[in-house]
Amino acid sequence: MIIAIDGPAASGKSTTAKGVSRILRIPYLDTGSMYRAITHIVITKNIDITQPVELKILLSDIQIRFEIVNGENCIFINNENVSSLIRSTEVTLFVSAVSAIPEIRKSMVELQRAIGKENGCVIEGRDIGTVVFPNADYKFFLVADVKVRAERRLVDLEKLGETKSLDDLMFEIEKRDLLDSSREHSPLRQAKDAIEIDTSLLSISEQIEKIVKHITNKE
Ligand code: DC
Repeated sequence: MIIAIDGPAASGKSTTAKGVSRILRIPYLDTGSMYRAITHIVITKNIDITQPVELKILLSDIQIRFEIVNGENCIFINNENVSSLIRSTEVTLFVSAVSAIPEIRKSMVELQRAIGKENGCVIEGRDIGTVVFPNADYKFFLVADVKVRAERRLVDLEKLGETKSLDDLMFEIEKRDLLDSSREHSPLRQAKDAIEIDTSLLSISEQIEKIVKHITNKE
């Protein structure tokens, strides 16, 4: 079974998708982490993403895989566990530019389809219901007020030891949404057949419950 969960930045996709995956016992796939992992490599190796040759070498050289470490779903790129590094502000600010590149998207979408088809998955991102799995069994699109999203991001950043003002975070989130939804290739869009869920006033367990109920009531 493929359950697609899309939505803008910090709309609650990851927490919700993880919860749904745990309850329904279906593997979880965070596609944003894949674009973040590539962005981490682009930054650390100082790769010029405007140069097709550099892009080609980058894509032929990378290996992305997921592994559970101490109960957490971790992402490895070229055997390095980058799960924490990809949440940095630097990666967050640059990931929209990297994920807008068609060659990078093509390669990631192939990998996402291969992983997803293996055992089914609860897969979250921006283009899952529209491009990666347009025939997904269930599609959800999460939205939330920008202030609520910035407050959630603030809590995440505090866990990483970073501090930022709410205004700066709101600005960053809106900027990223604009870039992600206005790019030429696979922009952030709600699939016509996706169910929209506004998470602004919902608790995490309520978000998860809404999706699980929708799926189990239909079965
Ligand atoms: O979900 P996230 O914030 O970790 O995603 C990071 C970025 O990756 C997001 O700003 C856009 C990009 N992305 C994408 O283009 N397509 C996806 N399916 C998932 C994420």
